[in-house]
Amino acid sequence: MASKPWGGRFEAGTDRRVEEFTESISFDRRLFRHDVLGSQAHARMLAHVGLLTRDECDAIVAGLSEIRARIEAGDFPFVLEREDVHMHIEAALTEKLGDLGRKLHTGRSRNDQVSTDVKLWARDAIDRVDAGLLHLQRAFVRSADRHRGIILPGYTHLQRAQPVLAPHYFLAFVEKLERDRGRLADARKRLNVLPLGAAALAGTSIPIDREFAARELGFDGVAANSLDVSSDRDFAIESVFALTLVAEHLAGWAEEWILWSTQEFGFLALPDAICTGSSIMPQKKNPDVLELIRGRSARVVGSLTTLLVLIKGLPLAYNRDLQEDKLPLFDAFDTVEACVDLAAVVVEGANLRPDRIRERLDEGYLDATTLMEHLILQGVPQRTAHEVIGRLVGLCERQGLKRLADLSDADLAEASPKLGPEARDLLGVEAAIRAFKSYGSTAPAEVEKQLERWKTKLGL
Ligand code: ARG
Repeated sequence: MASKPWGGRFEAGTDRRVEEFTESISFDRRLFRHDVLGSQAHARMLAHVGLLTRDECDAIVAGLSEIRARIEAGDFPFVLEREDVHMHIEAALTEKLGDLGRKLHTGRSRNDQVSTDVKLWARDAIDRVDAGLLHLQRAFVRSADRHRGIILPGYTHLQRAQPVLAPHYFLAFVEKLERDRGRLADARKRLNVLPLGAAALAGTSIPIDREFAARELGFDGVAANSLDVSSDRDFAIESVFALTLVAEHLAGWAEEWILWSTQEFGFLALPDAICTGSSIMPQKKNPDVLELIRGRSARVVGSLTTLLVLIKGLPLAYNRDLQEDKLPLFDAFDTVEACVDLAAVVVEGANLRPDRIRERLDEGYLDATTLMEHLILQGVPQRTAHEVIGRLVGLCERQGLKRLADLSDADLAEASPKLGPEARDLLGVEAAIRAFKSYGSTAPAEVEKQLERWKTKLGL
């Protein structure tokens, strides 16, 4: 049992099946860079407080860098007996430096070490996803810009509702992604507190300097309660929750664009480069990327659920259950990163089909609400105005008229004395769009302001 760093009190070796069951090296090896970073900071802290000499510290820091390089080069043996990434790196250091390597674990435990590693990893991953989201926002803004002047039918309940300007539509996603970035930034802020030095659960009698380690690793502060540190995975859950909303936003968007690229809608042209075909039906061009973005949201929701259930009912402090945090955390980040990247490719390549959209813009009485508001502005109570226009829509349907504009002056006047010929100026989607006024609405001037604001904000 001498080979195990915890083997001192054991007489018999570990059952192979237990080693296989308890290992995490198969998945936590991807933490190696952050484990090295954390250990180097820890060594510098030990030197700072006089527990290592300068030379010893330098040897440890250099040794760890060399181990990192070997892992990067694929020249590093991973073995089951060494359980996890922390023990692999420490063992390799000891192989190289002898007793000096055996000093590194002074004043820390794998419990605060793993938490530090995972936080460092998640911090980088948050920054990568944030960069991806910014890139995607820019793609949406550019799309808003190149589709200016196009009017779309806006939907509620997937039924035609009111007209909206195309840029207004694209910018709606920019807003959602902005909130996603805000949530990730919030998670990052709360995450950025140093666990190292909490040791196993109770702290340590070694005179460590946690503030020093925090500065070395770019943490904003030091976690104040060692028991809390040892059991805390809030940061993982919070980040994955933020990722889940990203995934949900992308899934809704993907669903819409899948619909829009059907024959039935025909609103959207997807470039060949992002579509795939069918092995049996030669004519097919399928939006698989969008379908997979929609589908993969399931994995992210699954990861969040796994993490939530993982910590349910755990007593203080560290429990081995927590080793299972990494798989859902890694998978959520990997999945969302890939989806965000591909979403940007789709947004950059897809174009609205203005002719197909215009052809059917007269369907659905998209101007009915504008006409109702015209009555309200003349003093008709909203409920009454709603009824009047509702009856006109009913009349159109009975007479087989597609548009309110197809009604005669007599029909309008009969519905309300306030619907004179001037009301015609409000009919049709173009007029309806011009009638909008409120802040945040699809009024052309408002949409232009939105677009300008985003271009400035995102540096476009
Ligand atoms: N591989 C472990 C994990 O990921 C490291 C911590 C082990 N701590 C312990 N007390 N066994 O959680």
